[in-house]
Amino acid sequence: MCGIVGCTGNQSVTPILVESLKRLEYRGYDSAGIATLNGAEIDVTKIEGKISELESILNFNNNACVGIGHTRWATHGVPSSTNAHPHVDCSGSVAVVHNGIIENFQALKEELKGRGHIFSSETDTEVIAHLIEETYNGDLECAVRDALSRVDGSYAIAVISDNEPDVIVAARKDSPLVVGLGDGENFVASDIPALRKFTNKVIYVNDGEIVRLTRNNVTVSTLDGLSVEKSVVIASGSVQDAERGGYEHFMLKEIHEQPKALRETMEDRLYELEGNVDFKELRAIEHAIEDIESISIIACGTSYHAGILGKYMLEDLVRIPVRVEYSSEFRYNNPLPGNKSLAICISQSGETADTLAAMNEARSQGYLTLAVTNVDGSTITRKADEILLTRSGTEIGVAATKTFTAQLLTLYMLGVYIARMKTLIDVETSRYMISSLKAVPGLIESLLDDINNIEKCALQVCEADCCYFIGRGLNYPIALEGALKMKEISYIRAEGFPAGELKHGPLALITTGTPVIALVPKGKTYYKMLGNIKEVKARNANVTAVANNSDDEIPKYVDSVIRIPDIDELFSPMLTAVVLQLLAYYTAKFKGAEIDQPRNLAKSVTVE
Ligand code: F6R
Repeated sequence: MCGIVGCTGNQSVTPILVESLKRLEYRGYDSAGIATLNGAEIDVTKIEGKISELESILNFNNNACVGIGHTRWATHGVPSSTNAHPHVDCSGSVAVVHNGIIENFQALKEELKGRGHIFSSETDTEVIAHLIEETYNGDLECAVRDALSRVDGSYAIAVISDNEPDVIVAARKDSPLVVGLGDGENFVASDIPALRKFTNKVIYVNDGEIVRLTRNNVTVSTLDGLSVEKSVVIASGSVQDAERGGYEHFMLKEIHEQPKALRETMEDRLYELEGNVDFKELRAIEHAIEDIESISIIACGTSYHAGILGKYMLEDLVRIPVRVEYSSEFRYNNPLPGNKSLAICISQSGETADTLAAMNEARSQGYLTLAVTNVDGSTITRKADEILLTRSGTEIGVAATKTFTAQLLTLYMLGVYIARMKTLIDVETSRYMISSLKAVPGLIESLLDDINNIEKCALQVCEADCCYFIGRGLNYPIALEGALKMKEISYIRAEGFPAGELKHGPLALITTGTPVIALVPKGKTYYKMLGNIKEVKARNANVTAVANNSDDEIPKYVDSVIRIPDIDELFSPMLTAVVLQLLAYYTAKFKGAEIDQPRNLAKSVTVE
């Protein structure tokens, strides 16, 4: 959740740390700080607030070439300048930034206090600085190693000491960490976008590894002191990926990038003439997939909603039981053995702690594990049996958008792939499905060309205290996703329901003027949806339908209509999802909310 950075080099480090932290702000943004090594002293500056506020009080006129920085998503202690990182030891000669949770911090803190250490924050992190202080004997790497042998929990840390002015020591367990290799300067960070402006040469740090960086050298070893040979990877993606490119917000840019993201995700995978989906990545496990008798989809948040669609679609196409489970529930609920079962673990970031733990649990129960993620090199890609990458490019907005539709597309492709492999659909059906999928990016483009009615609807919703989303079948998870997008960025209470469930409780929430957004593409439940719309209209709800261009009937039933291009109901979720993303975006914008960094949230949820 938090973001950490560090740089040891040959030029002023403060602007580098600020620039890197800005690229990591999506991970947490309630407070921030940096520590730089200025001669033989560590200078710490930290504030409650965003990086821009930190930037405004920093002294850029110093010669420090080594430093570490942090952007925080509070876990232990309120957001405040005292709880902001870096944290230092009693004498201020060691400074630490940390992402993760030290689970035994309370016991360690008592022990350290008993030996006279003075603590100044409520954080778990501060114990690391004091442990290092106790064990430091002229070798920072050794002291960090000793300190880490005392802590339980998760961490990615970066540490500096005023006794070793050129050195940063970093280490990782269950929280992401990458090293960037520059020319006369080296970097460490939670994620590649933080480094991308300075280098594209990266080393992925694994759990249990410790890194010692100087401006000219990087060595990696295990916590037990064994040296590790690492390969250098050239990072994909460009610096521009992490810029707004003329859009007011990253979220809007990323919504508009969906046609491109989907085209990239289907590239080289769809063979219409042959009626085949080819996932070259899955060749090694092709036979195991052919034999599977059940599937569990495991994910959190938006990725979980993609998973519900995956369940409906896969059960329909592949005719085997598909369960969809929250990662945080699956991991603790004594899952059944997974013989001949496939666990599809969906995580756009590839770093979600609960999903990683659930995937481990699934593997130990005998499941074959397949990760669907957007981040090549993320932890999930190194732990799953096989991976399918959504190729959406960097997503910075905290609210997932382009990665969600790319997850949907990947699940559709996987459905056709497995159904063909098990000869459950014929070539004609498969060709039809492939050509329909190929048409989706163009249809999203035409939808994005005219968003007037979406803005009009947003103007109404932004005046409301609550709003509801209803859908059936494959559009039910989209109703859930529309509600999640709405609440997370506009702070309006929003819920999604299967439309048929309204009369079993939620109808009690409908009063005069309550906004209800009904997803009603033409399809097998169209007339059922009209019946449900009647029910809410009878309670004077204000109903907006999301309906096909050619649907002439719908205006008679609702107050307003947002149009989507005509499309087979099966694929309509990829269009209705885009409408609901835009609706949430404009509602939040009209309310003046902080769209890219909604309160209390972070993009990469690396704590459970
Ligand atoms: C909402 C959102 C979150 C994530 C969830 C899982 O817009 O982005 O609900 O979907 O935190 O994250 P990943 O997919 O990275 O595992």
